[in-house]
Amino acid sequence: MVLKPWQNCHFFLVLMEFLLQVKNATNQIVMNCADIDIITASYAPEGDEEVHATGFNYQNEDEKVTLSFPSTLQKGTGTLKIDFVGELNDKMKGFYRSKYSTPSGDTRYAAVTQFEATDARRAFPCWDEPAIKATFDISLVVPKDRVALSNMNVVERRPYPDDESLVEVKFARSPVMSTYLVAFVVGEYDFVEARSQDGVLVRVYTPVGKAEQGKFALEVAAKTLPFYKDYFNVPYPLPKIDLIAIADFAAGAMENWGLVTYRETALLIDPKNSCSSSRQWVALVVGHELAHQWFGNLVTMEWWTHLWLNEGFASWIEYLCVDHCFPEYDIWTQFVSADYTRAQELDALDNSHPIEVSVGHPSEVDEIFDAISYSKGASVIRMLHDYIGDEDFRKGMNLYLTKFQQRNAATEDLWESLEKASGKPIAAVMNTWTKQMGFPLIYVEAEQQEDDKVLKLVQKKFCASGPYTGEDFPMWMVPISICTSEDPTCAKMQILMDKPELTVVLKDTKPEQWVKLNLGTVGFYRTQYSPAMLESLIPAIRDLSLPPVDRLGLQNDLFSLVSPATGEPAARWEHPALCHSPSPALGGARILLRTPKGCSISLDVGIPPQLHTNCCISKSVMGLFLLSSQVYVTVLKHGDSSTLDTMLKLHKQADMQEEKNRIERVLGAISQPELIQKVLTFALSEEVRPQDTVSVIGGVAGGSKQGRKAAWKFVRDNWEELYNRYQGGFLISRLIKLTVDGFANDKMAAEVKAFFESHPAPSAERTVQQCCENILLNAAWLRRDADSIQHFLQQRRAPPAPV
Ligand code: BES
Ligand code: ZN
Repeated sequence: MVLKPWQNCHFFLVLMEFLLQVKNATNQIVMNCADIDIITASYAPEGDEEVHATGFNYQNEDEKVTLSFPSTLQKGTGTLKIDFVGELNDKMKGFYRSKYSTPSGDTRYAAVTQFEATDARRAFPCWDEPAIKATFDISLVVPKDRVALSNMNVVERRPYPDDESLVEVKFARSPVMSTYLVAFVVGEYDFVEARSQDGVLVRVYTPVGKAEQGKFALEVAAKTLPFYKDYFNVPYPLPKIDLIAIADFAAGAMENWGLVTYRETALLIDPKNSCSSSRQWVALVVGHELAHQWFGNLVTMEWWTHLWLNEGFASWIEYLCVDHCFPEYDIWTQFVSADYTRAQELDALDNSHPIEVSVGHPSEVDEIFDAISYSKGASVIRMLHDYIGDEDFRKGMNLYLTKFQQRNAATEDLWESLEKASGKPIAAVMNTWTKQMGFPLIYVEAEQQEDDKVLKLVQKKFCASGPYTGEDFPMWMVPISICTSEDPTCAKMQILMDKPELTVVLKDTKPEQWVKLNLGTVGFYRTQYSPAMLESLIPAIRDLSLPPVDRLGLQNDLFSLVSPATGEPAARWEHPALCHSPSPALGGARILLRTPKGCSISLDVGIPPQLHTNCCISKSVMGLFLLSSQVYVTVLKHGDSSTLDTMLKLHKQADMQEEKNRIERVLGAISQPELIQKVLTFALSEEVRPQDTVSVIGGVAGGSKQGRKAAWKFVRDNWEELYNRYQGGFLISRLIKLTVDGFANDKMAAEVKAFFESHPAPSAERTVQQCCENILLNAAWLRRDADSIQHFLQQRRAPPAPV
C-alpha cells in the first residue's frame, strides 16, 4: 500500500493491494469505507487475468461500498487492487491533520491516524471489524524532511521516482492484526530512545525541541515492557515500540500496535515544571496502553460487546504496573478514590447499564467508552484478582494469551482460562457482575456468642434513590473478606456470598474487638453496619489504625447512605466516621450547596489537615498541581477583566500543554457575568485545542452557580458547532455531563430532557438520561438536607479545598 499525503492538501492518494480469499463464487465485493472516492478497482485470481470492477455503489449510512464485477469471481485466492482518494480531515478520527507550531512560530500540520473504534475505513476501504485480522505491508510517500512512522520498523527508504522532494518509506510486514490498531504518522518530531531490558527498541517522539520532556515516559515504558513480559510470561512480539505525543488528539491515548499515540499531556513531562500528579498520570497512561499490546492487540476482542474486557482489564493492570514501577506513589488509594468511587456512583443510577451490552451500530460503540466499561470493569477485575490470588491469576492469563494469541476471544474465554488455573467458579461469579447492572449493599449485624461473633449478612441491590423496591431480587456472588481489630490489614476469613442471606461464625473474636468487611475496599459492594458495629469502628478511624483505603471505603459507603432519599436522618452528617475520613465525596456536597440562595461557603470547605499526611489522595492529586490551580482559582474568583486578561496572556505564553490545560480548567472561577461570557467565547477560539474546549466549558459550569447556567445556555446556543465538532465521539457525552450534571432542581431536568429530544445526540443518549436522573436526585437531596449539610460543613471549616 502506498500512501501519499501532500502538505497543505486535504486529500491523499492510495494504491492498495489486498491478498484475499474468495470463499464463494460471486460478482460483488462489499467492504467498509467512508468519505473515500475509489478511482479504479480490479481483482486478479492467482495465476489468472485481472478483472476490472465496473460499479462502485456507496452505502453511505452503513459506511460500506459494493464493488461490482462484470464476471463471476471464482472461489480461491487472488489480489484485489484499489486506487482511491481519501480526505485528510480535521475531525480527529480516521486519517487527520493535527496542527502544531514550529519553535520559530510557524503553523504546520502533521498527518496522523486514530482508527478505534470504526474509522480505519476513513483511511482505506477494508473489512473494519476486530475479528477480521490481516497482516499489513505499509509504505508511505512523504516529504523527505519529515518523520514517517507506522506500526512496524522501517525496512527501506528510497527516493520517490517522480518527485525528488519525496521519499518512499517501507515498513516491515506486521503480525496478523485488527484494522483498528493500524497507524501511521507523518510530521516533525524529535525523539529519545532506549532499549528495554528484554531488547525492545523504545522511542518517545516529542514536538521539536522538547526531547527532554520524553525522558520520563521513556523510563516508564522501558520498565513496563519487562514487567508485562514477566507478568504474562509472553514476550512483546514486535522489534520496536514508539510512543508519540500528538497535538490534536480526541482521546487520552491509543494503543496502536507498536506506535502508541498520546495527547501531549499524557506523555510529556517537564523535569522542572511538571507536577507530581502529571507524572502519575503519564505513568498510568503508558502502563495502560502498553498492557493493550498483549491484552487487546495480541489477543483481540471478538466484537465490541467485549470492549469492556479490553478497557476494564487495562484500566486495572495499569495500577498494578505503576505500583510495581513506582511503589512510592501508593497508587491503589488513587484507584479507590477515582475509578472505584466513580463506578459506584454511576452504577447506582436506574439509568446505568450492564458491563456487557450488545453493540450494533458504530454510534453504540462510542457510547460504551464510559465509566462502566472502564472503571466498573477495572473494579470487578480487581475484585476477581483478589478472589483468585495473584499466582493462579497469572497462570490463567498466560493460558488465555497463549491459547488465543493472534486471534480473537470473548469474555467467557477469559473466565474459562481463569477457571482452569484456579479451580474456582469464575464464570458463575463474574456473570453476576457483568451481565446485570448495579451492585449490592450488604447489611451486616453481629451477635456475641461466648468467644465467637456470629455475623448475619443480607444483600440487596444498592440504589442512589433509596432502598431497592423492585419486584425481582437481583443477586450477586460476592467474595467477601472479613477482618478484626486483631489485624486490620489481614483477612481473618474469606467467604463467597452466593445467596441473599448468610450467617458466618467468626471464631475467637472477643466482645471488645471490632469487625470490618471489605479489606482494602476491593469488593464492589457497599456495606451498611448495624449501629453497634459502626460505633465500634470509630476509634480505629480516629487513631488511623485503619488503612487509608479502608477509611475511604467506609466513608464513601456512609456518605452514600445519608445522601439522596435514603430515608436516613440528616443527623448522620454529624457522624464521626464522616469527619475523620478522607472525603472526596464531600466535593459533591460542595457543588450542591452552590444552589441555595446566599450560600457562599463552597470554597471554604476543606480536608482536615491531619488527613493530608495520611492519605495519598492529598499527597498526589492535591500536589503542586492543585496548589497552583488553587492560587489561580482564588485570584480569578475575586478578579476583574484585567485579571482574566492576565490569565489569558499566561495561557498564550505557556509553552507546555499541561500549563495551558491547567489554566483552561480554572478560568470558570471568574464571577462577573460578562467575563464568564468571555471565557465561553475563548473556549471555542483558535487558542484552545479542539479536544480541550470541553473542559473550558465544563470549568465554567463547575465554577459557579451563574457559570452553570451560562455554560448550559452557551452549549444550547452553539449546539450545531459543538455537535459537528464532536459528534459520534465520546467528547460530546463528556461535554453534556460536565455542563448539566450539577443542576439541582426538577425544572432543569425537564429542560435538559426536552432540549435533547429536539437535538438528538445518539452516542450520548444514555449520558443524557443519567444526567437527568442525577439532577432529580440532587434536587431531592437538597430539599431534604440543605440546612443540616451547611451546618455540618461550616463546622468543618478548614484550609481551602480545590475545585
Ligand atoms: N483504546 C483506548 C482509546 C480510545 C478511547 C479509542 C475511545 C477510541 C475511543 C485507550 O486504550 C484508552 O483507554 N485510552 C484512555 C486513557 C486510559 C489511560 C484510560 C483515554 O483515552 O481516555
Ligand atoms: Zn484502553
